[in-house]
Amino acid sequence: SSLEALDNTVPLPNRRQDRSLPPEPMPHTGFRNTPDTDPALPANRTWGRAILGRVASSALGEDSVKAAFINDEETLNSAIDNALEKGKAWGRLSGNERAEILHRAGEILEARRADLLEVMASETGKTIDQGDPEVSEAVDFAHYYAESARRLETVDGATFVPAKLTVVTPPWNFPVAIPAGSTLAALAAGSAVVIKPAKQAARSGAVMVEALWEAGVPKGALTMVQLGERELGTQLISHPAVDRVILTGGYETAELFRSFRKDLPLLAETSGKNAIIVTPSADLDLAAKDVAYSAFGHAGQKCSAASLVILVGSVATSKRFHNQLIDAVTSLKVGYPQDPTSQMGPIIEPANGKLLNALTTLGDGENWAVEPKKLDETGRLWSPGVRHGVKRGSYFHLTEFFGPVLGVMTAETLEEAIAIQNQIEYGLTAGLHSLNTEELGIWLDTIQAGNLYVNRGITGAIVQRQPFGGWKKSAVGAGTKAGGPNYLAGLGDWAPAESTA
Ligand code: SER
Repeated sequence: SSLEALDNTVPLPNRRQDRSLPPEPMPHTGFRNTPDTDPALPANRTWGRAILGRVASSALGEDSVKAAFINDEETLNSAIDNALEKGKAWGRLSGNERAEILHRAGEILEARRADLLEVMASETGKTIDQGDPEVSEAVDFAHYYAESARRLETVDGATFVPAKLTVVTPPWNFPVAIPAGSTLAALAAGSAVVIKPAKQAARSGAVMVEALWEAGVPKGALTMVQLGERELGTQLISHPAVDRVILTGGYETAELFRSFRKDLPLLAETSGKNAIIVTPSADLDLAAKDVAYSAFGHAGQKCSAASLVILVGSVATSKRFHNQLIDAVTSLKVGYPQDPTSQMGPIIEPANGKLLNALTTLGDGENWAVEPKKLDETGRLWSPGVRHGVKRGSYFHLTEFFGPVLGVMTAETLEEAIAIQNQIEYGLTAGLHSLNTEELGIWLDTIQAGNLYVNRGITGAIVQRQPFGGWKKSAVGAGTKAGGPNYLAGLGDWAPAESTA
């Protein structure tokens, strides 16, 4: 099958299948997840250092970004008209034909893995260990949605009518995987796409888009824009020809988009304020490691990141977990991605606003277990912070910060810990560390979050295995989970099947 052929494109011996995943393709789809690069192999470390050597002078994607620049209303409108026109032929392709092109896109994204790591490090400061799984996720999206495209037309006899034009507005924090996922999904569903990559990650988005063009997605059916003025963004979102908008970003941005147009057909994955609960029956060594990684991977700049850890009963009162967590956090090596030993990179821009406040100011009754330090004059490099004594209902408890700072809260019982998390208006990811199945049952029945992880970190959802999406104010609009079986079905309309009644 085409999927077996794909495995030959993986540049062995530098790769390995993640051992936590079954070796067999998943049933029904033949899809299998792409392996990450194994940094334990010396050849891969050499490869990584060669990439990092290019980061400082990287200009990848620059020409495409320049060509995408739009400064006036007229040019934007003709780009939209062109997308609608070119999108017609794309929408007329069969699901199988689109699948072939998307599989090719997956192969080209894989072949450009080094370029994607280079451009992400150069633009956003993402370290290779964070960027590599992100490229795998983008490749996974291509192959997964390709297979989904084949099945789309035949659900319960109802006919799928693709959206004509989907606008994709991704964030800067996953500058490859998220734009790729949204774009590939819409293309798989037969829609034309206009993508506006985040300004801070314009080149990363461009290299991803170049890969899709190279795979045979016609320019026009996939249009990339960067907009010179804010008003042009408003105009794009509110354009009447746009029949889907896929947004990943803050809750406020989703609200703003909706204010532009009342009937906006929005699929938005929005903010998060996520907690990991650790109970006395947990494997505490594993919990400390998973909390530190979930809180400080990519400097905490993930909507899925752990912003709180809630310690139950004796975990809170004994020193053991506290000490393990502090050891894990203080041993993280902070630095720019060009240094291959960096484990936590810089934040996207000099700390300001809410995040600066969270890095420098304590609330009532709080104290620093590990005080965050500004490490250089750029304002972008901060050591990680851990604050104790976060009170229920406090500012830190309830506010999203998007940076390298973790709050520790305590609860007498698991039920109280769950209530602490459920008090938060967002519900994206949640973690439980416990080896007690009764506790697991209680937590599963009552916790309010879209993605639940047990005895694992809470970031890094894997396509098909952990379809990704939130509850409450972490989701706005009609979306189902990305990387899951129903995502494409929301990217068009269903003409009613002939009634048999
Ligand atoms: N999908 C990412 C994760 O799971 C967040 O967007 O970490």
